[in-house]
Amino acid sequence: MMKLKVESFALLDKLEGHNEIQSELIDLITKESDSTQMLTEDLLTEDRNRISYTDQNDSKDFNRKYVKIVKPYLQKYIEKCASEQGYLDPIIEDMWYQRYSYIGDKLGWHIHTGNFTGVYYLKYNNDRPTETQLIQPCDQDKRIMVVAEEGDVIVFPSYMIHKSPPLVTENEKIVISFNINWNKIHPEMNPRLYKI
Ligand SMILES: [Fe+2]
Repeated sequence: MMKLKVESFALLDKLEGHNEIQSELIDLITKESDSTQMLTEDLLTEDRNRISYTDQNDSKDFNRKYVKIVKPYLQKYIEKCASEQGYLDPIIEDMWYQRYSYIGDKLGWHIHTGNFTGVYYLKYNNDRPTETQLIQPCDQDKRIMVVAEEGDVIVFPSYMIHKSPPLVTENEKIVISFNINWNKIHPEMNPRLYKI
């Protein structure tokens, strides 16, 4: 099969309002997950994909308390991403948190649904080598290390293979992941597209 090389992109920026909402989001997520979703010691010692706490099973429930707070901020962020890249009407399809609380917590290579995926680094110390890693779509032997800071959001195509390597320190990492569909081409793109 012939493979046509196409380029792609990922976007990384600070979430506007991060400082205002960070502590409340961490409190809500921590309280909820400590009481309801704690893994047993047996599961914590298994060497496989291991996230101490997640609410991924409820990812389409937009009435969760922390989701109600963070969603408008993330919506504003992705609308800016969309318009800057020539797209319109991005829709957040689902959203969930992942708490990496213990040394060794990790999530192996995987992909998402939607046409783009977002990751909001809510609590993050950027300890090497725990940064998110993305596989280059055109050259799948190469990876991109995402140099993000707490408060950043990265948006990348959902088909890109990625992982969260094992936590190497006691510094807890909490991310909020979400899948996005960008539905239309921005009308301002039309003059450019007609010229191509
Ligand atoms: Fe992911």
